[in-house]
Amino acid sequence: MTFLTFILAAVIGLVPAPVEYSPNTCHTSFKKAVASLEPWQREEAYRLTIKGKKVKIEALTDEGRFRASMSLEQLRALGELPQGTIFDYPRLRHRGLMIDESRSFHGLDFLKKQVDAMALLKLNVLHLHLDDSAGWRIESESYPGLPSADGLYYTKEQLRELVAYAAERYISVIPEVEMPGHSREVGQAYPETVCAPGSWDLCPGSEATYRLLESVLEEVMEVFPSELIHIGGDEASMENWGSCPRCRALMEREGYTSVKELQGYLVRRIEAFLRARGRRIIGWDEILDTGIPDGAVVQSWRGVSGGLKASALGHDVIMSPNSHLYLDYYQDLIRKEPRAVGELTSLRWVYGYEPLAEGMAPERLLGIQGNLWTELVPTAEHAEYMLYPRLFAIAETAWSPSSAKEWENFRLRARALMDVFRALGYNTFDMDTESDLARSGYRTFGEYEASGKK
Ligand code: ACM
Ligand code: ZN
Repeated sequence: MTFLTFILAAVIGLVPAPVEYSPNTCHTSFKKAVASLEPWQREEAYRLTIKGKKVKIEALTDEGRFRASMSLEQLRALGELPQGTIFDYPRLRHRGLMIDESRSFHGLDFLKKQVDAMALLKLNVLHLHLDDSAGWRIESESYPGLPSADGLYYTKEQLRELVAYAAERYISVIPEVEMPGHSREVGQAYPETVCAPGSWDLCPGSEATYRLLESVLEEVMEVFPSELIHIGGDEASMENWGSCPRCRALMEREGYTSVKELQGYLVRRIEAFLRARGRRIIGWDEILDTGIPDGAVVQSWRGVSGGLKASALGHDVIMSPNSHLYLDYYQDLIRKEPRAVGELTSLRWVYGYEPLAEGMAPERLLGIQGNLWTELVPTAEHAEYMLYPRLFAIAETAWSPSSAKEWENFRLRARALMDVFRALGYNTFDMDTESDLARSGYRTFGEYEASGKK
């Protein structure tokens, strides 16, 4: 960024930073200004002109007008209405957040509140991890034994309300129905879907498994209109498959030599089922290891290697590497933070993430996502504490051109927005008490000291 644009960006407090800000009024037509953009960028593009007390919004779609209105709302909340013109459009089309509702159930009001925050940050995908061994959180009429016995689950009516609320804010909600691992709760309710009692994985050799999954997916598709349906696919232990007669019979029939191939069988079958209903599957990057179906989207979480491999194979990719975008990881020193997992994943570290890894085809990169797993995040307040302000950084990486990103400038804007979020009733991490190490962007004292920046 040049010195001049740096100064201009600094006077605009917006997060994510806009593509362009000029203190003058722009005279080119808006249509011309967006002519060279990708069609999906044009849909969200807007121009906001502020002259005296007059505000003008230009966009080709209601979605573009909505993005502009969120910029205006944020600027007003920050207490500034800069004179001039903001021209803006997204870098990436999929700008997401995943919330784990299985390990810790938050409820409709919490999710709507986070949707409001996402809208302000120009994020557009809420991915809900709705079932896991800790509990199944969606009502099911066809398998009423699935929803968690503690009563902590979403009714379809609540989820429809959430989907509509999010759609009004141009945010799509992607449901995740996890399979075949992380599924102990399914086997407990319907033992015919697992190889052995207490199993972590579903049984890919049992037709009862497909009856349940297809029936539940039908119900889920009635509630969620999103093209993408997440089928999980991560961390199957496969520990009982080799000794299960049904799994062994399927292996023999298909000529498989490894139990791993059973996961590929299940994923391909479910993919065909969803494709026949006009949907598209997305799965965690393990789906690459077992024969991935054409058209499947890969969500890279075990670092970036899954994203690179998927893009090389011609698959679309969403990057949520645990190296940078796992929001259940520590955001500051272990001794000052509530118990968390992983390595230090500070605001600066998250901000430093560049999603287009070397060697990745840019047209394959649909976008990025922050993931909030909640094994160690028991309350709504704690969840917000883990989300903000790190979600600001993810929003900027997803929306703003990489040339507009600059750490010190972002930090100033994030600090001001933190106050806005607090005034709106969000619980945030306190940037003012952040340790020097976290603020340095290094992950360990060793690296920090070696940098000479004590
Ligand atoms: C994952 O974090 N197991 C996707
Ligand atoms: Zn089995």
